[in-house]
Amino acid sequence: MMLETERLCVNYGRIVGISDVSIRVQTGTIVALVGANGAGKSTFMSAVAGLLAPKSGAIRFDGEDVGALSPERRARKGMSLVPEDRGILTDLTVGENLQLARSSGRSDPARPFDEALARFPILKEFWARPAGALSGGQQQMLAIGRALVARPKLLLLDEPSLGLAPVIVDELFAAITDLRDAGSTIVLVEQFARRAIQISNYAYVMKNHCVVAEGPPAKFADEQVLNKAYLGGEADE
Ligand SMILES: Nc1ncnc2c1ncn2[C@@H]1O[C@H](COP(=O)(O)OP(=O)(O)OP(=O)(O)O)[C@@H](O)[C@H]1O
Ligand SMILES: [Mg+2]
Repeated sequence: MMLETERLCVNYGRIVGISDVSIRVQTGTIVALVGANGAGKSTFMSAVAGLLAPKSGAIRFDGEDVGALSPERRARKGMSLVPEDRGILTDLTVGENLQLARSSGRSDPARPFDEALARFPILKEFWARPAGALSGGQQQMLAIGRALVARPKLLLLDEPSLGLAPVIVDELFAAITDLRDAGSTIVLVEQFARRAIQISNYAYVMKNHCVVAEGPPAKFADEQVLNKAYLGGEADE
């Protein structure tokens, strides 16, 4: 098991962020985490990465309790978060953005960019361009490329398709599937719930800060199951 959370609760002051979220992510799989706006998906991702301190609950990463570790320590152990806003420095070039990632995670000092450039050749082509001059899709490739420099064991992707044209979303989903097939473990938060579930090995649906449904993709093949989870949770479980 690469990641396991147990009844994770996070508050923003007196506002509830997530409540009792327990999820399991097997090594080498994609786990989709979907749900309506404000459900708590980003809060969950930030808490796993160590950016938000849980009120209660446990986070086990690769067999170790990491709940008390700083974000940097978690990154060194192999977690990489690509946040909702992508975290790219648009005034810097593509190359500079990648170079900044060199000190993160488990990056290989000898060949830090091999994996990112092999996965997204466009980053090599646009190496000297300001990141802000890239299209939305290319910026997302850069954001994931930066995460790959850290050679993560676990990639946390928060809404990677946000703002992208449909044809680019296709490319992105193909790239995410490729990453998994090459051995990466991925938590994928998505607005395109159905598509995310389709490429996942297991999915969780969140609503009102809680997980309200979970299962393998086949469980959600019937449109009504997903709609029901979004609307009211599962009455039959
Ligand atoms: N900085 C914050 N301060 C106070 N409350 C917050 C903050 N960030 C999030 N929340 C609240 O926590 C809950 C979960 O928000 P979160 O951003 O995790 O949802 P989400 O599922 O990622 O939504 P979206 O699909 O819009 O990205 C919401 O009720 C939200 O209003
Ligand atoms: Mg969010």
